[in-house]
Amino acid sequence: MLRRLHKDQPDSFAFTPANLAWAEAQITKYPEGRQASAIIPLLWRAQEQYGWLTRPAIEYVSDMLGMAYIRGLEVASFYFMFQLQPVGSVAHIQICGTTSCMICGAEDLMEVCKEKIAAKPHELSADGKFSWEEVECLGSCSNAPMAQIGKDYYEDLTQIRMGEIIDKLAAGDVPLPGPQNDRYAAEPLNGLTSLTEYDSGKTKYNASVQLASDIGDTVKRIDGTEVPLLAPWQVKNGSAAKAAVKPATAKKAAPKAAKAETAPKAAAKIAAAPAVAEGPGRKPKVMKTPRKSGADNLQMIKGVGPKLEGLLNDMGFFHFDQVSAWGADEVSWVDQNLEGFRARVSRDNWVSQATALAASEKIEFSKRAKKDGT
Ligand code: FES
Repeated sequence: MLRRLHKDQPDSFAFTPANLAWAEAQITKYPEGRQASAIIPLLWRAQEQYGWLTRPAIEYVSDMLGMAYIRGLEVASFYFMFQLQPVGSVAHIQICGTTSCMICGAEDLMEVCKEKIAAKPHELSADGKFSWEEVECLGSCSNAPMAQIGKDYYEDLTQIRMGEIIDKLAAGDVPLPGPQNDRYAAEPLNGLTSLTEYDSGKTKYNASVQLASDIGDTVKRIDGTEVPLLAPWQVKNGSAAKAAVKPATAKKAAPKAAKAETAPKAAAKIAAAPAVAEGPGRKPKVMKTPRKSGADNLQMIKGVGPKLEGLLNDMGFFHFDQVSAWGADEVSWVDQNLEGFRARVSRDNWVSQATALAASEKIEFSKRAKKDGT
């Protein structure tokens, strides 16, 4: 099926303060210049907060990671765990329709969804509480047929049990995930035939079901307050790694809705946190204004667009020869402090680009001066 952005989109998206803090902590898990690797957990959290991935949410996350929007959209549209259209307010049910599940009754489960939810996949139920779709193998083939609801797997399903689960969810309950036929995990139906002395039953349920039952967030929208904030990774001096706060993103989302106003506050809170280090490197010399001859067109540096040029000018960089003078320490500082575009200087080798541009500008200038006789 085509995976495209939905035609109706909200005006804005912003993480709740708790989700923003969580997202910032995730970013610190990746080495400098590799923040884009956090795209999947951040998109997933955005989806958990809102229910599905909207265009503003994809752009918000892309901004946080200094990625082009199209890169964010590529990830969001590739993986079918990301929903690009509205889903049921209570649950979106993904039925595995691949070989094992198909042989063991996936089509029967889909019949239940058609009857109880909507005739077609991705259609909302009349009360807006549910939606469903068929997906490819979810890797739980030994417990076929199965369905993923929220984060969790409901396995060893039957038509009757599928109907009961939907009814329970509609009534506000969250049925226990995992095998629905009393199996502990994926052992034979008539019990273990080997390794019988191995006590796999240390917890009441198998590990993933136990976790789901302990956390209890299977189908809930996640505002972040219900999950612990993972500690940011440590930088060399032992302090917490710097959290990348993106004021531009927060500013963009803030005026749109009351919910969105929470982001800048959270950003300010994180920025003020004493554990946040300033980052390595040395701040280069800056200028208050460009020289009389006017600012250079920094967009001639490959990888610098209008937004980034504006940011550089705000920081006091107007000329190629300023950039070409940066050593490793200055590059490191600027890489750290380009909010929303971290690590672009080293990634796109600005210094050698700027050196070449500054040299060609000098040649142009001397040619003009010669022509004018000055
Ligand atoms: S075939 Fe359904 S989980 Fe693999």
